[in-house]
Amino acid sequence: MRGQYGPRPQETVDRANELLDNFAAQLEKRGIKVDRPTPLDFNQPTATPDWETETMFGCMPPRDVLLTVGKEMLEATMSYRCRWFEYLCYRPLLQQYYMDDPKMRHESAPKPRLTDADYRPDYLSESIGDQKRLEWTADRFFVTTEEEPLFDAADVLRFGRDLVVQHGFTTNLKGIDWLQRHFPDHRVHAVNFPGDPYPIHIDATFTPLRPGLILNNPQRRLPDDQRKMFEKNGWEIVDAAQPAHNSPPPLCYSSVWLSMNVLVLDPKTVCVEKTEVYQAEQMDKLGMEVVEVDLRDAYAFGGGLHCCTADVYREGECEDYFPKA
Ligand code: ALA
Repeated sequence: MRGQYGPRPQETVDRANELLDNFAAQLEKRGIKVDRPTPLDFNQPTATPDWETETMFGCMPPRDVLLTVGKEMLEATMSYRCRWFEYLCYRPLLQQYYMDDPKMRHESAPKPRLTDADYRPDYLSESIGDQKRLEWTADRFFVTTEEEPLFDAADVLRFGRDLVVQHGFTTNLKGIDWLQRHFPDHRVHAVNFPGDPYPIHIDATFTPLRPGLILNNPQRRLPDDQRKMFEKNGWEIVDAAQPAHNSPPPLCYSSVWLSMNVLVLDPKTVCVEKTEVYQAEQMDKLGMEVVEVDLRDAYAFGGGLHCCTADVYREGECEDYFPKA
């Protein structure tokens, strides 16, 4: 948080852990195996030869760091200095997966230098104002530069052999090009969503629910020219329901649109935060079974139901959902 750092109040940490444990237990009851990361002491300084920071971030949202594509788990570059070492929280699990499954590929994208050349100075200054900020993001002028490839895993959506990647604050065009070169058998599509003044991660903006159906944040609609691949292949993009809250919880980095940060378990079942009654109602109308999950008091640690999970192993083949170019 700008102007604030250091440990959060212990009772908020305990409450968030309780909610995350309950969510894990709910998933386990449905037959899902849930693994948990190994936290570091996030209240310690870190440095590389290029920079130093006084504290780190945390490991509530694995979605931001880990990208599973087929047999591969890829550690994202990350674009915040305070998140540069976050992959270490997942290394015990990744090493275990690597040993357990001879076909598993453990990859790490080139660690970025993250020198000052990666960031536009004063971009986040309060004096910019909302109007200017919206113009900038609509023009794809973001806080990060094109100094080197940058991406966070939570900017990537996987649709079988197509990867849809948000170009924004945390992922630049070089990062998207790196992903295309790294996954030559996939088609990588850059998307952006005018209307979001802080485009960080795609998962409160564009939420695939099942083959053929995507929820889009009505304040951040996908531009017409970028809808073509979905329309040509019979996919429907519908506006998400309004959030139930007027503001995010205290010290939360995300917007009220964590309402649509849902976790799809299968094409008929979706986890929705339990206070998000409008989102749950819309899911019901769309024919999905809704699993209510209490998570709002954990939002401040890095996100919602989609953010705080990352799928490791799924069954099925790599489908082609967009055969018509
Ligand atoms: N950056 C996303 C939002 O807050 C998660 O809407």
